Amino acid sequence: MGDAERIHALRALLSRLSDEYHVQDAPSVPDADYDALMRELEALEARHPELDDPASPSRRVGGRPSAQFSPVRHDPPLLSLQNAMDADELREFDRRVRREAGDAAVSYVVEPKIDGLTIVLRYEDGILRQGATRGDGSVGEDVTENLRQISALPQRLKGAPHGVFEARGEVFMPRPAFDALNAARTAAGEPEFANPRNAAAGSLRQVDARVTGTRGLEVFCYEVRRGAQPRTQSDALGLLAQVGLPVNPLQTRCASIAEVIAETERFAVQRAQLPYATDGLVVKLEDLRLAQQLGATQKAPRSAIAFKFPAEEAATELLDIEVQVGRTGTLTPTAILRPVRLAGTTVQRASLHNEEIIAQRDIRIGDTVRVRKAGEIIPEVIGVIADERHFLRQTYAFPRTCPVCGGEAVRREGEAARRCINPACPAQLREWLIHIGGRAALDIDGLGPRTVDLLLSRGLVLQPEDLFRLREEELAQLPRFGGKSAAKLAAGLRDARSRPASRILFALGVPHVGERAADLLVEHFGSLTAIAQASEQELSDVPGIGPVIAASVRRFFAGGVGERLLVSLAELGFDLDRIRADAPAEGPLAGEVVVFTGTLSVPRQEAQARARSLGARVDSDITRRTTIVVAGESAGSKLARADSLGLRVLTEAEFGALSDGTRERN
Ligand code: IVH
Repeated sequence: MGDAERIHALRALLSRLSDEYHVQDAPSVPDADYDALMRELEALEARHPELDDPASPSRRVGGRPSAQFSPVRHDPPLLSLQNAMDADELREFDRRVRREAGDAAVSYVVEPKIDGLTIVLRYEDGILRQGATRGDGSVGEDVTENLRQISALPQRLKGAPHGVFEARGEVFMPRPAFDALNAARTAAGEPEFANPRNAAAGSLRQVDARVTGTRGLEVFCYEVRRGAQPRTQSDALGLLAQVGLPVNPLQTRCASIAEVIAETERFAVQRAQLPYATDGLVVKLEDLRLAQQLGATQKAPRSAIAFKFPAEEAATELLDIEVQVGRTGTLTPTAILRPVRLAGTTVQRASLHNEEIIAQRDIRIGDTVRVRKAGEIIPEVIGVIADERHFLRQTYAFPRTCPVCGGEAVRREGEAARRCINPACPAQLREWLIHIGGRAALDIDGLGPRTVDLLLSRGLVLQPEDLFRLREEELAQLPRFGGKSAAKLAAGLRDARSRPASRILFALGVPHVGERAADLLVEHFGSLTAIAQASEQELSDVPGIGPVIAASVRRFFAGGVGERLLVSLAELGFDLDRIRADAPAEGPLAGEVVVFTGTLSVPRQEAQARARSLGARVDSDITRRTTIVVAGESAGSKLARADSLGLRVLTEAEFGALSDGTRERN
């Protein structure tokens, strides 16, 4: 889709989403998606001034008021905030501010950005006379009676200031109240609120004001609009508190933008512990006269900015679907996306998992999709934003043949993915070889993806077992492969022969057989030969082995390929019956299997090498073999796992003492 079409599509979509959000309090997408779409629209509009449209949703501040409540005109109108997504955008904001400020010193106040909704409170001679929502910024709704039900809001101000006193603040629903409300709604068969903001908005705009009083709403005020002219933002917050209005105690004064940035980093950790939802920090110029002088754009003041925490979800256009072939022949679809910022990086590709998920979620090329990136995990497409699809946009037809070898790709009953079943498929062989060389499989030193590609391109490996027929002299003649690499790979291939049967089984790449299943099978049957001969029933009788694994193992060995492979490996010197790896017989740690976790005082490899030199085996992950876990600083999930398995856990110092032989082994 061209930029012009995309702009039109985004405007239509955002208008609808904005209405759902501001007017109906029932958004169909997360806020982060909405923000991401708005930013995409703003970026496209900036690039195409010729497509300008005053009615574009990017020009509007918020929703329009609903007819349920009487209108309240805001004078001056309520503005919104510009957004900064990272430290660079904060520095840019600071440069703009300082450029305007001339010689004046610039300092900031940083406040949590509460995920609630704006309210304006009007007190006359200290008595609450009117409370209104923001509405579209110019006209909001009169919710005075509802606001009176919120116990945190005073009906009468302390010191009863004369005349009109107007404040702006945020109504929000703390998390405990939000959870309780949603639980009650679920129990009553009503739909849950999507987030605390919508719950707060829905609760405030109740026709029966008494209901509002039961919802546990809170308020924080942050701006004096009328009745006083504080010189600084700190004074404003002080004054609001002094007259008895609720003010958030979390407010930080920062003498420079560097301090502001440090505060964003600190708060990123703290916000998870707060009893209310925040979506960022608001950075405000401390000097309010200077703020006045800087003025505002149509939408937002120039003297403040909202720092938004990186969203873990975003929305963008699905440009294409690429299908790759994995080691077991699985056809894996990858989404090719219009680049989008997500959790601090630009994302262009995301996992689509498998054929089943694409069909289930009816994901089509050209759709606007929601993408999520949680932690370190590869981003994934989690769904489609139901925009108005063009009638020509077709359902995605998943390929029925392998995109690499052209062979038949089948989808077995009960499986979500389609697989290429050609055992000679070059894509499968490549992935298989990389898998075989991997740490958890045969751990072949010197066999990375580049070497695999080189071997394949020279036709030196046509089936996995060919790897172990390679001679060092042959390897040394490969281009860009010196004598040293050849010697290393040759040694790696030699060492691989002494791996125990469970790792050989894992290396075979039988679909569904991971490390754990391989361990269980070898432990039970005692040898690879026995596993290859076991019936499906015998396999599924093994505790921990389900019918899917059993069928897959049987299919692998019954098809001939697996069986031939085992014969070849035995001929090449692999021991198919060795249950455990041999630990060196010598040394104080002989027989121990050690796993290091957390931050150590020496490089991890050094610690591992030392453990090995003392006779221990070293593993990277905790398995049933593990006998000792050495936990350094801030050890995490592995330590928890070790504890839950009741393993022996040592500090680094204890391990040092143990390996020095100064302590008894038990
Ligand atoms: S100052 C001129 N301070 O964020 C704008 N806003 O995205 C004055 N918000 O409409 C806003 N906490 O509803 C300000 N400490 C805070 C805030 C805050 C939440 C909301 C407010 C505003 C929106 C802007």
